Amino acid sequence: MCGIVGYIGKRNAYPILIKGLHRLEYRGYDSAGVALINQDGQLNVYKAKGKVAELEAFCADKDTRGNIGIAHTRWATHGEPNTVNAHPHYSESERLAIIHNGIIENYAVLKAGLQQEGYTFKSETDTEVLVQLFEYTQVNRHVDLKTAVQLALQQVIGAYAIAVLDKDHPDTLIAARKGSPLVVGIGEGEYFLASDATPIVEYTDQVIYIEDEEVVSICMHATSGSAGLPPLRGEELRSIERPVDGRRTPLGEGVLNITTINNVEKTPEIKRLELSLSQLEKGGYPHFMLKEIFEQPRTLTDSMRGRVNVRQDNIALSGFIDNKERFLNAKRIIITACGTSWHAGLIAMYAIEEFAQIPVEVEYSSEFRYRKPVINKDDVVIAISQSGETADTLAAIQLAKSKGAFIFSICNVVGASIPRVSDSGCYTHVGPEIGVASTKAFTAQVVALTMLALCIGREKGTLSEEHYLNIVRELGRIPEKIERVLGQNKRIADFAKTFTYAQNFIYLGRGYNFPVAMEGALKLKEISYIHAEGYPAAEMKHGPIALISQEMPVVVVAPRCGTYEKVVSNIQEIKARKGRVIAIVTEGDELVSKIADYVIEVPETEECLTPLLTVIPLQLLAYHIAVVKGCDVDQPRNLAKSVTVE
Ligand code: AGP
Repeated sequence: MCGIVGYIGKRNAYPILIKGLHRLEYRGYDSAGVALINQDGQLNVYKAKGKVAELEAFCADKDTRGNIGIAHTRWATHGEPNTVNAHPHYSESERLAIIHNGIIENYAVLKAGLQQEGYTFKSETDTEVLVQLFEYTQVNRHVDLKTAVQLALQQVIGAYAIAVLDKDHPDTLIAARKGSPLVVGIGEGEYFLASDATPIVEYTDQVIYIEDEEVVSICMHATSGSAGLPPLRGEELRSIERPVDGRRTPLGEGVLNITTINNVEKTPEIKRLELSLSQLEKGGYPHFMLKEIFEQPRTLTDSMRGRVNVRQDNIALSGFIDNKERFLNAKRIIITACGTSWHAGLIAMYAIEEFAQIPVEVEYSSEFRYRKPVINKDDVVIAISQSGETADTLAAIQLAKSKGAFIFSICNVVGASIPRVSDSGCYTHVGPEIGVASTKAFTAQVVALTMLALCIGREKGTLSEEHYLNIVRELGRIPEKIERVLGQNKRIADFAKTFTYAQNFIYLGRGYNFPVAMEGALKLKEISYIHAEGYPAAEMKHGPIALISQEMPVVVVAPRCGTYEKVVSNIQEIKARKGRVIAIVTEGDELVSKIADYVIEVPETEECLTPLLTVIPLQLLAYHIAVVKGCDVDQPRNLAKSVTVE
């Protein structure tokens, strides 16, 4: 789940590429590189281990001229993070350079074939095999780069978003996609390409989302001496003379052409971006994660806007209204997701079964896609994904779709792959989530899924009108109640300091708050590197209680609802074994406050909505422990924001 970015146009490409890499760094940050073709026709490749800043330092005294370039920030899959395995990779002759996000599954077979043809390999990557294959095809089939890429990709098994430069064609940028995301930005006489729109929004809001097995060729024609480019000579002039798609165009004008890997012409659909630059800034917060935690009152208001109408006591979810029969006739609802999104799915199971009385199965997408699950035509499959690009979830819904199930996705990135292959869905509208640890997307997913459960329940008559109205009105109060919880940030920061010693944590909850315990444990694991487990509180007696001692902090999510009394007994069992308890309780709680070591209060609300309040202190606790430990909160080690490989 690397980040790729490319540029061709009138401007110097290097600063645009580096800025783009910074925007994409949340996708992977163990090494980075850039390739540029300068005005002397040289193809320069620079790479560095570590963050983009290391690459910038390395390039400080290098020739970074050139109006065409590609760049990459890496999350290693094949070969450890180092400058040899970093992208871009040269072809054998160093005439071509490639960047790639994805995994080539049959790279070993292709590599062996190329080695027999005398090709040698410097890196351990699957990507280097691709560029060698392009060169081999170009040379042996006497075709131009675009055709070579098409022919070569017909032999490739796996996922890719790639961009390729050819030193002999400094006016042409070739890219292609299958499985991994790729967006092209159209500017005035310039083009951008990237893994997502964040590097592009600064320059244009006109984008094309590239579909699977599509090849993009962008060619900028030039006549000598105009528009600020130095006059072109010799081979460059000859190369530009060669027609592209049979047409010649003046400088500043580029020709963008999209075909399939089988050379079928495609007509691009240009979309307008809804993203704004300010959304990509930290806005004065020390970390994107803290900014995104504090954005939740507003992001939930945005998520409910035009959907929850408290005045009319009504929820209108277009994805449900347009496909009511599919939900009302569903024999079963299968939820598929990964990580934090899976935890939101677990909460949805409680709500849908309680309000709509439809059996729900919550699946880890990675297991579901290979488990040979029984999927029926009248099943509804709900896919939950913040990024909309998670490979396992994408594959899980493609499997369900092939069996005739109805696909409804909950996603945060407009135009991402998952919503594009779904039958219908609901965007969470929380704006870009940059921090790798998901926070505001999680609460918006829970709201979206709860709205869906309420709509189905009301329509089916399995939910009383009174209960429906109480929850709708309470949804309207949630943003203000979250504000009140955020008011305890300083207090949580203070006692978080006392837990940085811990090697392990246990998180407990019951009912709607069992998944919250799981989510709290995941947040702590992924940003503070402290091992933590989330359990249904009653499960303690079946083993984990053996772990309890004075060293073991136990976070118990215990709002006064549902099985509160049972949770209180679980806390007493832990205290009886000298465990240190941090309890999340309802304001005014007197019982737990007497036995727990630390108490964080959240306002009272409907049981099904308690996760929206109880998760906030857990997000803050993990954040502050990680900050005190000096961890890189926004870009934790070994992680990436969007897992686009399986
Ligand atoms: C959560 O903090 C993590 N970033 C990760 O578990 C994430 O939830 C998971 O990779 C799923 O991502 P998605 O929602 O974009 O599909």
